[in-house]
Amino acid sequence: MSLTILGIESSCDDTAAAVLRGTGGDVAILSNVVSSQTDLHAAFGGVVPEIAARAHAETVDLVVEEAIAAAGVSLRDLDAIAVTAGPGLIGGVLSGVMAAKGLALGLGKPLIGVNHLAGHALTPRLTDGLAFPYLLLLVSGGHCQFLRVEGPEAFVRLGGTIDDAPGEAFDKVARLLGLPQPGGPSVEKAARDGDAARFKLPRPLMDRPGCDLSFSGLKTAVLRVRDGLVETNGGLTEQDRADICASFQATVASVLAEKSRRALALGEVTAFAVAGGVAANQTLRLALETVTDLPFAAPPLALCTDNAAMIAYAGLLAFEGGRVDGMDLVARPRWPL
Ligand code: KG4
Ligand code: ZN
Repeated sequence: MSLTILGIESSCDDTAAAVLRGTGGDVAILSNVVSSQTDLHAAFGGVVPEIAARAHAETVDLVVEEAIAAAGVSLRDLDAIAVTAGPGLIGGVLSGVMAAKGLALGLGKPLIGVNHLAGHALTPRLTDGLAFPYLLLLVSGGHCQFLRVEGPEAFVRLGGTIDDAPGEAFDKVARLLGLPQPGGPSVEKAARDGDAARFKLPRPLMDRPGCDLSFSGLKTAVLRVRDGLVETNGGLTEQDRADICASFQATVASVLAEKSRRALALGEVTAFAVAGGVAANQTLRLALETVTDLPFAAPPLALCTDNAAMIAYAGLLAFEGGRVDGMDLVARPRWPL
């Protein structure tokens, strides 16, 4: 039976709502609205939780209205309401959960709490129709893990970062070089004119078996390169910045590609996919594409970064599986898959 689902996402610095229609294997995105808070946080060099929470609370109703209107449906047409219930910044998650509860209660519709990471993990199935089980590399600002996605709510963690997430490292490198936030897109842009071979950066944990990763040492290595250049030349040129960005990006891509090879060698999967904000990076996509002969999926950029279509989709699959939540649904800052 075709279902119409509203999804709401507010776990970090984007307030988002989307409407999906279909069944698990065949879904159309009727609308996908994202209101970014990037400008609000720009002056602070990172996401400020209090500012984020206030902006989510002020924006969420408007974003939902916009998504409903853009989808050409009315609230009465909805079969269920899905909302990110964690993990994330608690103030933001609460804003979304409260808005979803209000709608569900007012309209008499089922409510489904969704794990934000499940949203990212299921996106390649939404966009490319991947069959279970597939290997997923989830790389974002807060997360970095290899998951075997076995079903809509069945995930096996095969490995992940022991310290920072790669998106965090991109953001930190941008900060070190005076480039704007979020760092991923600005580092990628600067790297276009750079020489990736100029600086040899460490490839952490490559000598350790398995598919765990580490990015904090890489960040520190970039800091040393920057300070070395400042000491000898009195500052950084545009070319220095470009070369640092290119070297850093190439190192991240090569480490993730090598660890992906190891995760794939564990077997038991029929496809390989990447998701999360860092999956928007073209150099990384190219590096990952070549690691296996299995089908490879990388969602379109707008569905890699935070969005509510992925939350609506995870909610739709959970609902089809018979899961609904009550008004006692709690917002969880931490919620491992
Ligand atoms: O998934 P996401 O939107 O939010 C969560 O962390 O859940 O990911 C945001 C992260 C940020 O750290 C951002 O710098 C990074 O994804 N990112 C990128 C690119 N676009 C966004 N990193 C590398 N290259 C990009 N093009
Ligand atoms: Zn995310």
